[in-house]
Amino acid sequence: MFLCPQPKKLELHKGYYFFNAGEEPEITSKITPLLAQKESYRIEIDSTGVHIEAADSAGEYYARVTLSQLMKNYRGCLPFLYIYDEPDYSYRGFMIDSCRHFFTVEEIKKIVEGAALFKFNKFHFHLTDDQGFRVQIDSYPQLTSVGSVRYGSHFGKTHDDEEMYGGFYTKAELCEIVKFCAERHIEVIPEFDVPGHTSAIVSAMPELSCTGEEIKPQTTAGIFPDVLCVGNEETYKMICAVIDELCEIFPCKYFHIGGDEVPKAHWNKCPKCQAKREALGLKTMEELQGAFSQEIASYLKKKGKKAICWNEAIRGGNVENDNITVAWWMDKTDTSLKWVNSGAPTIIESFSPYYVDYPHGMHSLRDIYMYNPKKIRGLTELGKNSIVGIESPIWTEFVKDIDKMQKMCFPRWLAVAENAWNSYDKKDFPQFLKTVEFFCDVLKEHGITPAPEEEWNILPHTRIEQTLKFAAKNISKKTIIDFFRGNNK
Ligand code: ACM
Ligand code: ZN
Repeated sequence: MFLCPQPKKLELHKGYYFFNAGEEPEITSKITPLLAQKESYRIEIDSTGVHIEAADSAGEYYARVTLSQLMKNYRGCLPFLYIYDEPDYSYRGFMIDSCRHFFTVEEIKKIVEGAALFKFNKFHFHLTDDQGFRVQIDSYPQLTSVGSVRYGSHFGKTHDDEEMYGGFYTKAELCEIVKFCAERHIEVIPEFDVPGHTSAIVSAMPELSCTGEEIKPQTTAGIFPDVLCVGNEETYKMICAVIDELCEIFPCKYFHIGGDEVPKAHWNKCPKCQAKREALGLKTMEELQGAFSQEIASYLKKKGKKAICWNEAIRGGNVENDNITVAWWMDKTDTSLKWVNSGAPTIIESFSPYYVDYPHGMHSLRDIYMYNPKKIRGLTELGKNSIVGIESPIWTEFVKDIDKMQKMCFPRWLAVAENAWNSYDKKDFPQFLKTVEFFCDVLKEHGITPAPEEEWNILPHTRIEQTLKFAAKNISKKTIIDFFRGNNK
């Protein structure tokens, strides 16, 4: 029998419950306080039908997901069985970047639909970046009228087009996505990436950068100097207004405020940023970024929201474990390790292996399946227990369309889903491969095309070939050298 993720306990009993093919089995379902663990459920199948008990509505939903997986295994009958199941992590996330390339509402729904089959419960939506600002904000319409349009998409090594490329989501469209996700017990977490990765914002509002220089949204991959001036009160006014509008669309308790890859060159020369740093009694610009993130997180706290930021935001060492959850994707210092070991909430989003915009040869299905965040070197018991979950992003510098996105995400997100539900180390990769083959067919029934088997079930020499081909074709912001050095913290 193929199930993904594996339920915690499965007992097969003797006998089968038959129902008419093409019809639903008899199902009874109830929420019971006897199940203490959030999102947990029990399924019992006997001669009278299918009986579900769940801790809450999410648990009931996951019981039905498991049931539909069982029904794909057995058509017209179900074996008598008992299942008890609960997730190990409360945060089981995937991220889509709609900035480097824009994906329509229907395309987003397709990916969400695939993720929902495997019990993900958080969709982190990366909506603002250097190459495009992709959400309608009524109080600052220039963020989209100017910031959502670029001229050229030079993400590979060829630099010859200047074609207009744009797109953004209206509030109604985002509400539709939120509703679609809620029906699948997936919360949508918007990311408003500040104070860096802000070229698109600065193109619309140059007065919010330290230099005031007019720029355009970026057309290449990379890290750009056009960050927001954090010594300017207008910056905070704009950020709070955007947060206010986004909070009306996204009811989720989390809100992602970015904070990755923030060059400090402009801040170092800016009298306003220097004055702010001094007024706060801070020594370094890394500390200034920490204070900025803390300030935005406090604003979110007043609105009843929890902030998530990328691990660079805490590098100054002055961010407190108060209303901030860190998404640890890559850290060459020991800041993230110290953070998690201090008991502060952390989402593991390790570049290697969870970044599925990189080729299967670099971050293989096997690497993802075998990865256990709790085995990260240096983690204490407290650190292990402070991991709230895991997330896998699909960045889109090199993912131009939905066909490619489906193949990059699937079937690798089955391995992510397995890791996110079950943190134990008893892994059986050959058995998992068979499960993946089975669910590739299920995905196809849902109109989702996973990568062909020869891409994900690969031999070592093919991995090196794929990696080198990718390196030759693309200018990557995270270098191949990092990968070969095993920089997978
Ligand atoms: C990131 O990949 N810059 C979070
Ligand atoms: Zn400044």
